[in-house]
Amino acid sequence: MRIGILTSGGDAPGLNAVIRAAVLKGQTLNGQEFVGFKNGWKGVIEEDLIPLGRHEVRGISKQGGTILGTSRTNPFEGNGGPDRIREVMARNEIESIIVIGGEGTLAAAKRLSDEGLPLVGVPKTIDNDISATDYTFGFDTAVQIATDSMDRLRTTGDSHGRCMIAEVMGRHVGWIALHSGMAAGAHAILIPEQKTSMDQIIEWVTSAHDRGRAPLIVVSEGFELDTMDDPHHERGLDAFGRPRLGGIGEKLAPVIEERTGIETRATTLGHIQRGGTPTSYDRVLATRLGMAVLDLALDKQWGQMVALHGTDIVTVGFEEALGNLKTVPQARYDEARILFG
Ligand code: F6P
Repeated sequence: MRIGILTSGGDAPGLNAVIRAAVLKGQTLNGQEFVGFKNGWKGVIEEDLIPLGRHEVRGISKQGGTILGTSRTNPFEGNGGPDRIREVMARNEIESIIVIGGEGTLAAAKRLSDEGLPLVGVPKTIDNDISATDYTFGFDTAVQIATDSMDRLRTTGDSHGRCMIAEVMGRHVGWIALHSGMAAGAHAILIPEQKTSMDQIIEWVTSAHDRGRAPLIVVSEGFELDTMDDPHHERGLDAFGRPRLGGIGEKLAPVIEERTGIETRATTLGHIQRGGTPTSYDRVLATRLGMAVLDLALDKQWGQMVALHGTDIVTVGFEEALGNLKTVPQARYDEARILFG
């Protein structure tokens, strides 16, 4: 019997390292055969799969994205759900599926697993918002890219005496903004966990400017001013019915410029944060998770996924990944806030 692997949801640097590690360990230790489903659950539903062997995974851990392709296809919602997946697995002699994905994907995996499907999982997201694991691969790369970008934005800020705003991803949590903002020495870090007034932002910008600095602000896409009821979004909903966030930086810039008289520009980093080569930290984490999830599949520990606790790879149930977003604790924000302005 073969093991299937799929990557679902947004791509994250390190996905290929997970795939490579699982395949190489399985082949080396057990002569295990693998297949890869193309484009997440879509490939399962459409029976679109490819053989995955040593040759296919050669040298891929340094490649960003996923060699299998991904999508945000929901396996339920008119796509056949567990019956269709069971049928495809049986016809292709697939005993279990390793599901690599974020919260939406793991929620679907939990539902399918409750219906008796033999699934094991690996948490994945650049947002680092899954509570069952201390870090997800992809996060470190996204933070590094955001930090490098802010270092570059400072060049223009310093040269023109402008206020520069970098908008980063992260959905409803501020981890990417917090870490990249601290690393880049931003004068304000605006995150979804901390509603903030425009007056406060102006105070930080003015204070930095008065000291002769070009103010640098990092804002998370899910940030809300204290006057807002929802995060800014203008691009509809994704396949799981969640709003596609983005654009808050461009909303803040003209207000800051008008109120301070400081020329202000916003840059949305967007998918650049998910692109390119994974950092070595992400490659190592992804490789360890890939090897560990293979053990879960061989041990038939259905409904379980691998996670990082401290420096150890542990096993947790799908349900532990869900419902509870891992938000930035107050203490982490407070320590960063001391240096704002
Ligand atoms: O969850 C990862 C993430 O990059 C979020 O930070 C962002 O809000 C979202 O995915 C973007 O999704 P898409 O690639 O579908 O536009």
